[in-house]
Amino acid sequence: MAKVEVKEAKGTLGVLIVGVGGAVSSTFIAGTLSVRKGIGQPIGSVTQLATIRLGKRNENRFPKIKDVVPLADLNDIVFGGWDIFEENIYAAAIHAEVLKKEDIDVVKDELEAISPMPAVFDRDFVKRLNGTYMKHGKSRWDLTEQLREDIKRFKADNGCDRIVVMWAASTEIFIAPSSEHDSLAAFEQAMKDDCKAAISPSMCYAYAALSEGAPFIMGAPNLCVDIPAMWELAEKTCTPICGKDYKTGQTLIKTVLAPMLKTRMLGLEGWFSTNILGNRDGEVLDDPDSFKTKEVSKLSVIDTILQPEVYPELYGNIYHKVRINYYPPRKDNKEGWDNIDIIGWLNYPMQLKVDFLCRDSILAAPLCLDLVLFADLALRCGFWGIQSWLSFYFKSPMHAPDRVPEHDLFIQHTILKNTLRTIIGEPTLDYLE
Ligand SMILES: NC(=O)c1ccc[n+]([C@@H]2O[C@H](COP(=O)([O-])OP(=O)(O)OC[C@H]3O[C@@H](n4cnc5c(N)ncnc54)[C@H](O)[C@@H]3O)[C@@H](O)[C@H]2O)c1
Repeated sequence: MAKVEVKEAKGTLGVLIVGVGGAVSSTFIAGTLSVRKGIGQPIGSVTQLATIRLGKRNENRFPKIKDVVPLADLNDIVFGGWDIFEENIYAAAIHAEVLKKEDIDVVKDELEAISPMPAVFDRDFVKRLNGTYMKHGKSRWDLTEQLREDIKRFKADNGCDRIVVMWAASTEIFIAPSSEHDSLAAFEQAMKDDCKAAISPSMCYAYAALSEGAPFIMGAPNLCVDIPAMWELAEKTCTPICGKDYKTGQTLIKTVLAPMLKTRMLGLEGWFSTNILGNRDGEVLDDPDSFKTKEVSKLSVIDTILQPEVYPELYGNIYHKVRINYYPPRKDNKEGWDNIDIIGWLNYPMQLKVDFLCRDSILAAPLCLDLVLFADLALRCGFWGIQSWLSFYFKSPMHAPDRVPEHDLFIQHTILKNTLRTIIGEPTLDYLE
């Protein structure tokens, strides 16, 4: 990669979140505000805690990423966003029941000051939710114009230097790419023609963000920015995009265990993953059409890592199943079980069992912080289009059509760090010395 000219991170960074009143968003915002007050610990955040090795092994240089990479300061962030419910983010965080009241109360005033803007919502795309706080307009185009006005107004009112827009709203139903998505011209015409089935609400937010020069992060598995029309718009406006679907729990484990099997040339016969989850996300995913979007995202991982076409004797006949069960008593505290049937020497079968008692939004919040800071960094570096160096954070990493995605967590981690080294003008590492 050629030397990168990085613009300074000066001024205020506006972070606009779609689904700002949800569990992930309110946990991310409350946590970030608590960290910057010196109360909370940013555990799980690479930008805040991780070091980066610079130079040869014998140089022993391991500075913190945030001390050598020009990231925005947490004190310069101002939060806003959209939701289909009007309650402020203090009420939303209490409602989400992720954080204890005492942990939310330390930033009560700041949270109460953040109120959502009315959303672009279409119940045909999220069947289990009934929005009450929504925009009205003649067409998808008209609604998108309203979102652009929101972004401009937020930027002016808060004196922002830059804006990042992140999707942490509910998973939309599965839609396949269609001719309306093939080019920017076709896409814009479809918006003006109010082609509701092809243009999802998430596409309206993404179009508005990119048109306003704001990077867009897709945290759910929605098709959204993963279409040629959006790649064209990102190129036209020189704006970064990344996604899809935060890699937080079961898939995180999968992308660690599958490379382990392959590295040791152990075979795989079956992988059964099931979850119980009781938050609003679990309720939305209980709808088969929303689950299908998630299922596609979760299933793609194993084949790409294990390459059954290259290793038919080890991975040519895998049974892979993923289930999500809505179970209200657990709220945000998801439990995920994996049963993995593996094969060893002379075809002898063995089993591996994982029981992950996790907390969905606690795992997702640090990813949101890292992605916002890295997306803003990408913008200031002049990077535009798909940011595959951020694959580390996603279950279905976006990639150019002529490339295979990288799912292996540790390769993704190396790509992330080597990109950061390049940005700061340091040689990349092959880890031999
Ligand atoms: N928590 C995790 O570990 C994790 C991992 C990967 C992906 N995700 C995805 O992140 C998203 C958020 O998860 P969550 O647990 O916070 O869910 P949530 O249901 O608590 O929050 C989603 C929020 O989005 C709002 N919303 C829905 N449609 C909207 C629209 N069109 N415009 C504006 N707001 C809208 C809802 O009202 C709600 O407040 C989901 O899509 C989920 O699948 C979460």
